Amino acid sequence: MGEKMKCEIKIGKKRKGIVNKNIYGHFIEHLKRCIYGGIYEENSSLSDENGFRKDVLGAIKKLNVPVLRWPGGNFASNYHFLDGIGPKEKRPKKLDTAWMGEDNNHFGTEEFLKYCEIIKAQPYICLNFGTGTLDEALGWVEYCNYDGNTYYADIRKKYGKEKPHKVKYWGLGNEIYGKGQHGHCEAEEYAEKARQCSQFIKKIDPEIKTIAVGADNPDWDINVIKIAGETIDYISIHAYFSSDDYFTIAGLPYYVDKRLYILESSIKVGENYIKREKPIEIAFDEWNIWRKPLDDEENYKLSDGIFACGFFHILQKHCERVTMANLAQLVNVLGAIQTKGKGVILTPIYYAFYLYSNNTGDFLLDSEVKVEKYNFQYRNEKIENVPFIDVSATEDEKNIYVAVINRNTEKVDGKIEIENNFKKEGKILTMTGNSPEAINTTEKQEVEIMEENFKKFSDKLNYSFLPYSTTILKIEKNG
Ligand code: AHR
Repeated sequence: MGEKMKCEIKIGKKRKGIVNKNIYGHFIEHLKRCIYGGIYEENSSLSDENGFRKDVLGAIKKLNVPVLRWPGGNFASNYHFLDGIGPKEKRPKKLDTAWMGEDNNHFGTEEFLKYCEIIKAQPYICLNFGTGTLDEALGWVEYCNYDGNTYYADIRKKYGKEKPHKVKYWGLGNEIYGKGQHGHCEAEEYAEKARQCSQFIKKIDPEIKTIAVGADNPDWDINVIKIAGETIDYISIHAYFSSDDYFTIAGLPYYVDKRLYILESSIKVGENYIKREKPIEIAFDEWNIWRKPLDDEENYKLSDGIFACGFFHILQKHCERVTMANLAQLVNVLGAIQTKGKGVILTPIYYAFYLYSNNTGDFLLDSEVKVEKYNFQYRNEKIENVPFIDVSATEDEKNIYVAVINRNTEKVDGKIEIENNFKKEGKILTMTGNSPEAINTTEKQEVEIMEENFKKFSDKLNYSFLPYSTTILKIEKNG
């Protein structure tokens, strides 16, 4: 047997950037059982007076969701907001030709915005750039955000709220670079539409921030920025991953790291052609593991939870540009939460969110780890130097949060040194299970979060990190 793996962790005082909480955002789409049967179950004893499933809502509230994207996805590219407002019995049942779903439109704009209000998330609405028009997009923004007495604002006052909803985030379409998307076109054509749409919706409400479609492809992304870059705020990136190999899944964030460097360079190139005051930001507004056909709902494993934690570390590392991300998706389809009959399953991806969205500070701290590394191959790329122990540390006014992922399948003994001045007590939260394949079902809970208090934290802490685990040390600062 080889020698036991060891690591040395140093957490500095230097702040390297601001971590935007919107990186812990989510996405719900009119797709399979995500909304109907997940978020929303009308006339069910499991639901509240709004038709919102109470157990799902309870679980979501614990995630402190900062931002929630809706209604798609591919669905957005053939969605008409007028179908989903007003008395429910009068709303038309429509065929969605993105996913071939039948939608009675009972979950529409007001229901979505009510949901956001309850969970205290910022709404992010994705506009229809497929079968929709600029006129319709302007109408939707007028409906949601305009304070005057105009046609759409008056409809809102009649059916929803007197005061405008003030929706801040608006997506300028979805994945329009793909031939399977309603409204597919080339980058130049898309960018001119996005440029105009962004310009005019910001006239309705100057507080609006817009997200243009990025393709994780420099040709597309640079063109979009050259043409639309002066009116947009974010460019998006989507990514789904699949592998059954534990070390690949656990190391995939380092593949994401490479993709983000490429997108950041594209943004820099595009920005050279335009004039703008603030840099364009990145919204990673769809990401997840996707192994199976959508009807066959995923039940995520501990390894997938470890992947999600590593994904957060990479987003934090790129915090200068990446200021929003949205898991695809929150419930059932590719869902962090699964509804099964009368029960809910909280998957390891849910727990990854629970850990980080509740235990990350606003500032990224300098950190250093000495540990063994490994390489793997993914999509014809060699990914090198993936550390077995992955650290990201943040702080706010009160606490330091040291997040440590152990990708190793054995315990790793660590020495942690923290430069900051802290009290000698705090909390340790750990997500793990008995194997990378561990899952939660309605019968068994193999993955959960363990919480312990520690009192005698000396300047050098020795801590043994459990196999395939994520540990967050929450340490109170002095003074
Ligand atoms: O999240 C499922 C689908 O994946 C979304 O609708 C689409 O944007 C992406 O391709």
